[in-house]
Amino acid sequence: MRYVVSFVFIVLAVVGSVAFVRGDYWLGPIVVQPIEFNHAVHLEKAGMECAECHTDAMTGVYAGLPGKDLCLDCHDIDEEDHSQPEKARLFAFEESDDDIPWVRVAVTRPDVYFSHRRHVSSAGLDCLECHTDQAGLTRPPARARLVMTMTACIECHEKNGASEDCLACHR
Ligand code: HEC
Ligand code: HEC
Ligand code: HEC
Ligand code: HEC
Ligand code: HEC
Repeated sequence: MRYVVSFVFIVLAVVGSVAFVRGDYWLGPIVVQPIEFNHAVHLEKAGMECAECHTDAMTGVYAGLPGKDLCLDCHDIDEEDHSQPEKARLFAFEESDDDIPWVRVAVTRPDVYFSHRRHVSSAGLDCLECHTDQAGLTRPPARARLVMTMTACIECHEKNGASEDCLACHR
């Protein structure tokens, strides 16, 4: 009995340390954004639309991420409270030559082709059909996130008569 208990203990210890060491490999590295941007506040309090910040979504493959000029159209360094740490970070970028170095977190495999223009402009889809929980985020996700599985892409293509050819998506 004692042997069984210690055997189980050793196995758990090994599995635990491998999971700890390889966590980044399985889950992707932890992403730290330059500002803890809050989606929910901007959609609810500022009444903004997704494409006001992700301005390439109608015309490009990538939707794109906003530069500091857009943020500073609304946020005023002279009038707002700098004790809020995320605002202080934004105003530090106003004073620097650099733009905000946002990190991309929304991913699919590199061999998968996905175009925003095709889905937003041609197919007329709403952003939230695919980015289901983005509007409620109060801080950036901590890790890279798979936006959709292959099954989710194909289910919608099937419903809408869009291509199910492997080579349409895998190029
Ligand atoms: C049909 C599904 C779908 C729709 C509709 C969609 N997206 Fe995406 N989006 C994706 C996928 C999949 C990715 C993953 C990145 C990749 O593979 O290029 C992504 C990535 C992104 C990214 C990060 C990378 C980039 O493109 O800059 C942003 C920002 C984004 N989407 C915003 C939007 C906005 C804003 C809208 C609406 C105007 C929208 N998306 C509509 C599926 C969608
Ligand atoms: C259309 C105007 C508008 C634009 C553009 C805008 N914001 Fe805001 N933002 C607001 C409003 C309104 C609030 C809520 C009131 C407040 O806290 O000032 C807010 C709140 C914030 C806050 C504090 C709230 C929190 O919980 O974190 C930060 C930080 C912030 N915005 C950063 C940004 C950044 C970074 C950008 C550019 C990517 C940006 N804002 C673009 C209007 C805007
Ligand atoms: C005020 C500007 C603003 C608005 C409005 C906004 N976003 Fe964003 N979005 C950002 C910023 C800044 C980031 C990068 C930081 C982060 O992840 O929160 C981002 C990140 C994202 C990402 C991950 C991008 C990546 O690089 O991988 C997606 C997907 C996204 N937004 C979708 C949306 C959708 C869908 C909406 C509407 C429901 C929306 N956003 C509205 C500014 C905005
Ligand atoms: C909510 C529905 C929906 C989802 C989810 C969706 N698509 Fe689509 N997709 C469409 C529609 C509708 C079209 C046809 C648009 C047109 O006719 O221009 C299309 C067209 C395409 C095309 C062009 C096909 C061709 O004929 O050349 C590609 C590539 C594509 N999608 C890839 C993807 C990938 C990759 C994903 C998942 C990451 C995805 N789509 C998720 C609805 C969707
Ligand atoms: C509408 C777009 C679309 C079509 C059509 C499509 N795929 Fe995919 N496929 C994807 C996306 C997106 C992923 C990545 C999602 C993920 O990692 O879960 C993927 C992932 C894969 C993977 C990797 C799976 C894994 O778990 O590593 C294989 C293999 C694959 N596809 C094969 C195929 C084959 C074979 C076909 C044709 C019968 C096909 N795909 C058709 C979008 C598509």
